[in-house]
Amino acid sequence: MFRRTVVFLLIGLLAWAYQEMCPPPPKLCGSPGGPPVTGPRIKLRDGRHLAYMELGAPKDVAKYKIILVHGFGSNRFDTVVSKDLLEEMGATLVTFDRPGYGESDPDPKRTSKSSALDIQELADQLGLGAKFYVVGFSMGGQVAWGCLEHIPERLAGVALLAPVVNYWWPGFPANLSTEAYYEQRVEDQWALRVSHYTPWLTYWWNTQKLFPSSSVASGRPNFSRQDIEILTKLAVAGKPKDKGYSTQQGKFESEYRDMIIGFGKSELNPMDLKNPFAGKDGSVHLWQGDEDGLVPVTLQRYIAGKLPWIRYHELAGAGHVFPLDKHMGETIFKTLLLGENEPTADK
Ligand SMILES: *[C@@H]1O[C@H](CO)[C@@H](O)[C@H](O)[C@H]1NC(C)=O
Ligand SMILES: *[C@@H]1O[C@H](CO)[C@@H](O)[C@H](O)[C@H]1NC(C)=O
Repeated sequence: MFRRTVVFLLIGLLAWAYQEMCPPPPKLCGSPGGPPVTGPRIKLRDGRHLAYMELGAPKDVAKYKIILVHGFGSNRFDTVVSKDLLEEMGATLVTFDRPGYGESDPDPKRTSKSSALDIQELADQLGLGAKFYVVGFSMGGQVAWGCLEHIPERLAGVALLAPVVNYWWPGFPANLSTEAYYEQRVEDQWALRVSHYTPWLTYWWNTQKLFPSSSVASGRPNFSRQDIEILTKLAVAGKPKDKGYSTQQGKFESEYRDMIIGFGKSELNPMDLKNPFAGKDGSVHLWQGDEDGLVPVTLQRYIAGKLPWIRYHELAGAGHVFPLDKHMGETIFKTLLLGENEPTADK
């Protein structure tokens, strides 16, 4: 009798633990009880929908076509650059909700490669032509690295804006990545350890209340002084707030999947990439602030040093969200598209 009780209790405990660990199914857009579909979407190769938005010059007359990849916890309405500047330059900008964010279906099989293929399909279905630009901000920077690896022949140029670094990318000297790793807050070290070593615990870790979880996922990242200035200015200007749109289908297939991919055992290794534009037109730029409290400048510098074909722009005094500053955003797009302020000699 006693043994049976113990066995039942144990089964109950395991069932409870299992339930705590398993994320609830995402609330799909357009499904009964799910959020509504309010904007255009394309259907991808595996039946998933990808929601997008077009901005700037009409694409049939545009000289430049750009696809912007948003960061962690963000969505297609974070356009970085103004409509006026796009029109003035004759550029069309396409933004999209990454899988699991906003109104795009989740992709439980998401990888660096599938994300690059999604972008290629988006470009093809919208008729952006043989070549287009890709701009990736923060976690979207990892997607842009993936485009350089998987669809280099489709790229006219690439801009990586404070792209998130995975401390486990092979190629970093151990002492360098270890030093940067331990400079993070303790709760962030733990959040990344969980994402990396026990990805199946990621949902539980980020929803439990016993230990402090990731500062970024819980909305209090280590912003620098300049970051706070920029974000305050945007708030004063009345930039529409997210109001939960980004993660309306649930946080697992959006933010937590980002953590699992971004800090997991990576198929991506930027330091092994070859110059996609060797002997051809086009360039790859990387902008990084030297006071970025989320992405260590030491690791970014190391990556840039390994890839002499990258045009590395280190911004003194800048934090993580510098692309949201109006003037900086303009500089970035003008440099990428028009090659302004650029030395012409290729390294
Ligand atoms: C890491 O080790 C290398 C060589 O062993 C050394 O040159 C470098 O300064 C070290 N870097 C750090 C951040 O300790
Ligand atoms: C927070 O960001 C600043 C730069 O703005 C950096 O110097 C510091 O090391 C960061 N702190 C943590 C705990 O990551």
